[in-house]
Amino acid sequence: MAEFPVNVNGFQELARQALPKGYYDFYAGGAEDQYTLKENEEAFRRIIIQPRVLRDTSRIDLSTTILGYPISMPIIIAPTARHKLANPAGEIATARAASASNTIMVLSLSSTCSLEEVAACCDAVRFFQLYVYRKRDVTANVVQRAEKSGYKAIVLTGDSPRIGRREADMKNKTVVPAIKNVENMWSTKFDQGGGSNIQSQANATHDPSFCWEDIGWLKSLTKLPILIKGVLTHEDAIKAVEVGAAGIIVSNHGARQLDYTPATISVLEEVVHAVGGRIPVFVDGGIRRGTDVFKALALGAQAVLVGRPIVFGLAAKGEDGVKRVLEMLKEELELAMSLAGCSSLKEISRSHVRTKQDREI
Ligand code: FNR
Repeated sequence: MAEFPVNVNGFQELARQALPKGYYDFYAGGAEDQYTLKENEEAFRRIIIQPRVLRDTSRIDLSTTILGYPISMPIIIAPTARHKLANPAGEIATARAASASNTIMVLSLSSTCSLEEVAACCDAVRFFQLYVYRKRDVTANVVQRAEKSGYKAIVLTGDSPRIGRREADMKNKTVVPAIKNVENMWSTKFDQGGGSNIQSQANATHDPSFCWEDIGWLKSLTKLPILIKGVLTHEDAIKAVEVGAAGIIVSNHGARQLDYTPATISVLEEVVHAVGGRIPVFVDGGIRRGTDVFKALALGAQAVLVGRPIVFGLAAKGEDGVKRVLEMLKEELELAMSLAGCSSLKEISRSHVRTKQDREI
């Protein structure tokens, strides 16, 4: 067996070698010109860390609590669709890696293992990601099944009234399997229209009329806390607080929806200020290093979510690959904290980073 790479980016190359081109591109790609895809990572590179020296960092505590659930580190698994395209064990392998790493997995509604199968295979704290469907009874069904199966929160993705234009999938004519969680609940077959069936599937199912005023309906279905994913502005952050969200995930969907949205790390602080500590704020997009996690925490995130590195780890090495990706990010974060003079997450402060807005660098 080949050795593990030395950083999470190494898993991307292994995944590229392991997967058929169509599946690799499905995971790696972004929308249209992929401007935001590059920016998500580049924007982290423009943030500088300002370390403190001569601090006692002989013991470093990375543990944290998310919505009351203690976990080993502020790094959780973002919802990503269709893990069986990466590995035959699919989301079950990912969930087991989350358990082994004592962190949270957010299961995508668009998973290839059912939410019940994933619940049965692991004791990780699990959240359930939701797109609201045109068929509201189907949405109600999955939300209630998630609650019954022990998922601890609903992550409502707000940025996908339609699906973004992912040109690699169109060129490759990528065909993906039906969504396991709602299998047999649609009578329609999704048309490929000569291209990929991803767009037609999503556009036929997602309800583009769902809006802030409908959150009350969603809340009436479940006692679970609702996190809102896809917030990029202070206006929407305030709305999320007003409708009673339990948390916000600053996200541009890994640059797969609207191209030319800002890098998530560049708007995190705006959202954090708008929320003013009333609910926790999380961020995802472009996190590839422990130093990226450190920067996000310094700018006010309670934790980060990681998308592509997880599926690349899964494609390259199955459950062990996902575990290793999580471990690498954790080890790098621990090292960054030591070298920056922080022995616990609460010691990571705004003054540990310098952004372009702070002063010329
Ligand atoms: C996603 N993402 C996503 N988000 C969501 O709310 N529901 C979903 O089903 C999916 N599916 C999905 C598939 C793939 C292949 C990717 C890459 C992403 C977005 C995901 O939750 C997260 O926002 C980004 O992946 C974070 O960016 P990075 O870490 O991939 O750069």
